[in-house]
Amino acid sequence: MRELHNEIVPKLSTAMVELGLNENQWLNSLGSSTDKTHGDITLPCHTLSKILRKSPNDIAIAIANNLDSELSEIAEINIVNGFLNFKAKNSWISKKISSMNSDPRLGVELENRKTIVIDYSSPNIAKRMHVGHLRSTVIGDALSRIFSFKGHNVVGENHIGDWGTPFGMLIEHFIECDNNNVGEIDLSTFYKEARYKFENIDDFALRSRQRVVKLQSRDAETIDLWQKLVDFSLVNFNSVYQLLGVLLNDDNLAGESIYEDLLPEVVKRLESQDLIVESEGALVVFPDGWYNRENEPLPLIIRKGDGGYNYATTDLACIINRVESIECNEMLYVVGAEQSQHFSMVFQVAKDAKFMDEKTKAVHVSFGLVMGSDGKKLASREGKAITLEELLEESVNRAEKLILEKNSSMSDSDRKKVSKMIGIGAIKYADLSIDRNKNYVFDWDKMLSFDGNTAPYLQYAHARICSIFRKSSISRESTFNSEILVVNDFEKSLSKSIIGFSESIDETINSYSPHRLAVYLHHLAQDFASFYENCPVLISNDEAKMNSRLALCNLTARTLKTGLGLLGIETPENM
Ligand code: ARG
Repeated sequence: MRELHNEIVPKLSTAMVELGLNENQWLNSLGSSTDKTHGDITLPCHTLSKILRKSPNDIAIAIANNLDSELSEIAEINIVNGFLNFKAKNSWISKKISSMNSDPRLGVELENRKTIVIDYSSPNIAKRMHVGHLRSTVIGDALSRIFSFKGHNVVGENHIGDWGTPFGMLIEHFIECDNNNVGEIDLSTFYKEARYKFENIDDFALRSRQRVVKLQSRDAETIDLWQKLVDFSLVNFNSVYQLLGVLLNDDNLAGESIYEDLLPEVVKRLESQDLIVESEGALVVFPDGWYNRENEPLPLIIRKGDGGYNYATTDLACIINRVESIECNEMLYVVGAEQSQHFSMVFQVAKDAKFMDEKTKAVHVSFGLVMGSDGKKLASREGKAITLEELLEESVNRAEKLILEKNSSMSDSDRKKVSKMIGIGAIKYADLSIDRNKNYVFDWDKMLSFDGNTAPYLQYAHARICSIFRKSSISRESTFNSEILVVNDFEKSLSKSIIGFSESIDETINSYSPHRLAVYLHHLAQDFASFYENCPVLISNDEAKMNSRLALCNLTARTLKTGLGLLGIETPENM
């Protein structure tokens, strides 16, 4: 409980000074209690024993005796086995939660505004988006929303793979595919077909190489074909973004192609810093500390022997752009863990070459794989790789069946809307509720269940509160100014949970892990369920109690809606 912690520290400081102790000697030990029956915050006095030459319990007693009497209005103090425990008092919680109730930002403070580039989604032209890109899109979207909510200037960039030597063969293949009829291209096979021809048909390979040269010299006809191919793929990407309801659109496009002009500049700057060397005809950098399996220095290839530039070179150019043109303070790369070596090396070279200074932060926000329940890569029943649109549509259809079973009185159009919120929410939440570094198993039954750590469970808690207000004569808005009275343990747990919202947002930001927020919301919904089971809300004989509980319900609903909204998940009022 950060709020309680913050109130205790200055008062504890004064008491400690009287014992001749400074903050370095105890502040780090002050933490959350593991045993909540004793308190919320605890100070283990065992390490102080050596300094003060007294038993931990005696030290705890001495500190307690020195404590300002004001603290007793905030927390109950007890001492158990050398632990000095602080347990938030109901009156203090009431005050805190009531002030949060009238705050539109739910206690979340703004941070000093930074410009943060978030590189996410970033699929490749002429290929279908795969589940890895789905993860990147969902995590990046949540981080964008959360950083914006904290007051930052978020620049979302979709670093699509739209340039480089493969485009020679892709364009040649495109020409042979009767490019007047763009609608016929199948993105799931297009790249493989082109690759096959390139590897097996000499004449095709030759034309492909010539096409690369034309592309690089901006030959008008070639650029036109390239643009058609890009546009065709974008239709597919945009339809996934639209289904997902993420913030990305064409304004966020910042693909590899836009850095093409900067690539020679990258080489020049690396040369001027004496970082580049020639190795077997290629230009490479050997960043310190990188070795291959044979223990030889590992190069980052900047320009290949044939003059072509690499993925890494584009990323270096991109850093120059983000630092110098966008003037960002931070850049986040939401990309799968398999690229972690790439990013470590690129960041290191960018620092060595002074493309970014010490103050600029570059973070690879990496994530694990998406697996089917069989432990293998996701595939459809026929064994063909499933497309993302099919996946999303299936989720919406499954959600619709569930609602039909649960709430048959809903109109067709409402059911369609709600199914979309649930189906898409379920997929996003399944991803966001797992530590991003772990692989996650894609499991329809689990993610669409109304029990457990799932989107439907959280959405249902929210809808349930909306339904309480439909039955009540009191409007949700009128509860903003109500005083919330924390009396029993259920009200207390729920209130403490709600107060923790801003802390959970900060943990999410500091670790770039939306799952922290998801875990928080799940606990909140669980605390609400226990409260609702045990505390009747619409009671006729005690108006103050009813108003207080209604306010607590509404504040729970607002916190759930805001929190899920920050994860990019919608909250139906009825389900
Ligand atoms: N297009 C790449 C891929 O599909 C991801 C790009 C990530 N962003 C970056 N700046 N390298 O693997």
